[in-house]
Amino acid sequence: MATPLPYSERIAWFHQARFGMFIHYGLYSQLGRGEWIQFQERIPRDEYAKLAEEFAPAENCVDLWLDLAVEAGMNYAVFTTKHHDGFCFFDTQTTGFKLPAFQGGRDLVAEFVEGCRKRGLKVGLYLSNLDWRYPGYFDLQRYPESADACGQALHDQTRELLTRYGRIDLLWYDGEWVDMGGKNDVEDRPAFWRSQELLEMIYELQPHILVNNRLGIDADLDTPEQHVTASTPGRGWESCMTIGDPEAWGWSRFAPNRKAVPDLLKNLVVAAGGEGNYLLNIGPRPDGTVDASDAEPLRSIGRWLETHGEAIYGSERFFPDYTRHWQGGYTRKGNMVYITLFRYSTEVPVPLLRPLPVRAKLIGSDVELSVREGFNQGFVIEGLPEEPPTWPYPVLKLEFAEPPQRVEEEDRAAWIENKVT
Ligand code: GLC
Repeated sequence: MATPLPYSERIAWFHQARFGMFIHYGLYSQLGRGEWIQFQERIPRDEYAKLAEEFAPAENCVDLWLDLAVEAGMNYAVFTTKHHDGFCFFDTQTTGFKLPAFQGGRDLVAEFVEGCRKRGLKVGLYLSNLDWRYPGYFDLQRYPESADACGQALHDQTRELLTRYGRIDLLWYDGEWVDMGGKNDVEDRPAFWRSQELLEMIYELQPHILVNNRLGIDADLDTPEQHVTASTPGRGWESCMTIGDPEAWGWSRFAPNRKAVPDLLKNLVVAAGGEGNYLLNIGPRPDGTVDASDAEPLRSIGRWLETHGEAIYGSERFFPDYTRHWQGGYTRKGNMVYITLFRYSTEVPVPLLRPLPVRAKLIGSDVELSVREGFNQGFVIEGLPEEPPTWPYPVLKLEFAEPPQRVEEEDRAAWIENKVT
């Protein structure tokens, strides 16, 4: 049995990173109705394959994505090397349905890996388990050989990705449902994908790697999708999300349902407060360029992180029930607590926390703020400027002489009568 490196070592970079870029790009991008289009519209295989002939990713598309990731303050990127349609961006031996067969040997995975390394970004590869080109995937009783071949392709492609491109930091599976989710298939998944065997091969090839939980087994990371929900302490997790409509990760030409920057940023802060990451998606245009509707929000977040990044990168879990936010999102690093103020006022009460901080400032300002006792073992930071000094969220930085502890309330009604200070 292959043993990976200890979890704490493998996950260290992930906890530093906190913010990553998801990239959904494929043949489907040309049709502009999301990455599920082939299945949703039941486009026959040969018909869909014609899209490969017209597909022409811009020469510099990978640079555009990754430069944007850097500008956004992201520390890693995850690229769809093969999505559910089965089209591979790498020079696989498993199929001729691959970019190198159409674009004179162009291997976008190689470009992506190299581009990440050049910029100091960690490398994440997304590989869809399921592949709609296999009838056996939809009905394994009727087409058992095809079902086996579908599982085998996943093993072979994994091996290719992990042996040809050097060090890969994160392997991102997706689409573990069997029989296209037609029945309650949860128990069938590990057998269909031969997941344990696959995981052992992965750890054997790259013992430092992190693998997400979409092989039907837990592996290393949880992946809440389109919501930010922390896993139990000690378990790595990453919330993946679209900026636009949750039903489409691939390019949609017109989709006005976009999250605003304060919403996106709040998600990042909340994830960081629970010791988790935020993997935010872009869906490049048909030619691989990035639309302003994806690029601009990311740039705004990047500008905020330039000043306030210390509240996010390397954050530790504040408290297990960290998701309860009062005026802001709490993150922590040792004796330092950061409160990202989602709602601003000139004073910020911090309930039930001890001891009092020895220093309180707003990030980006040298002015020391004063701290006074609040009700019932809380304290209040006061004297913040009338108007929020930064957009969208100013961040309070509180320094403690020792790691602060939450005050446990033995009698949860006592505060009504006792002004204990
Ligand atoms: C879903 C979708 C898929 C998308 C993924 C991202 O599982 O099937 O299209 O790639 O979410 O997490």
